[in-house]
Amino acid sequence: MKKRTSSGTLYDEQIATAHDYDRWFAQDTLGARWVRFWFAPNQTLFLNTPARRLPRLLSLKPTDKLLDIGCGYGGLLIYLHRKVGFSQAMEGLDCSSLMVARAREEFRARGLEACARISHGLATRLPYPDATFDVIVSTYVIKHLSDDLLGDMLAEAMRVLKPGGRLCLWEAAPSRNPYLHNFNVKLLKMGVSSAHLRTVGQLRAILELAGFRDLKPYGHGLYYYYPPLPRVGFIAVRPPV
Ligand SMILES: C[S@@+](CC[C@H](N)C(=O)[O-])C[C@H]1O[C@@H](n2cnc3c(N)ncnc32)[C@H](O)[C@@H]1O
Repeated sequence: MKKRTSSGTLYDEQIATAHDYDRWFAQDTLGARWVRFWFAPNQTLFLNTPARRLPRLLSLKPTDKLLDIGCGYGGLLIYLHRKVGFSQAMEGLDCSSLMVARAREEFRARGLEACARISHGLATRLPYPDATFDVIVSTYVIKHLSDDLLGDMLAEAMRVLKPGGRLCLWEAAPSRNPYLHNFNVKLLKMGVSSAHLRTVGQLRAILELAGFRDLKPYGHGLYYYYPPLPRVGFIAVRPPV
């Protein structure tokens, strides 16, 4: 059934993405094995290189309540839990049921099931009360959202963040060279149908429109390993009331 966000945008794109991931990651092809390998928590820091500096730059404290939107296999949550040792259960959310099952399994396998709650849901309809989180992270997710849906996701992030709470996101960015750009988009659309890549200026404008303040560019630069795509990211703050 088609549903609408408050702004009237159809959810279809997110549901298509969920199906894409469910199908792609379940395949028994060389390509699917390759992506499964890189998504596993032990490899998190290779693709999510900016994560290393997060605990310091976000001044993460054990008492912080953290949410990861589009948490995939839960690698970033596991990494941050190890670094910070949160006293409250972390929350992870993903639209793909396969990802949710795998993330829960990754926590269980490490004896960390009490440390995180992984929910199945959409970035534009977060199943949490207002002002729940000190910090929200979302990595390599927003390319799956059109500008309208990204606006809806940011409105939800704003709602569930506490005043003064921080949002940190990063994503692949467009390349200036049109040939390289087309190649990168094809690469990013290997198993999924959407790849909305945004420049620093475009992402900044969308974050500001959503009401985020104190924007600090973060996580720019290249991946350590193939594919060497440009990246864009920000740390942003929900204004204190
Ligand atoms: C490229 S993966 C990144 C996973 C993880 N954040 C990481 O950095 O390893 C994108 C993830 O976002 C999830 N996702 C995409 N669109 C979403 C949406 N609208 N709501 C919730 N999850 C979404 C996908 O299912 C997938 O697990």
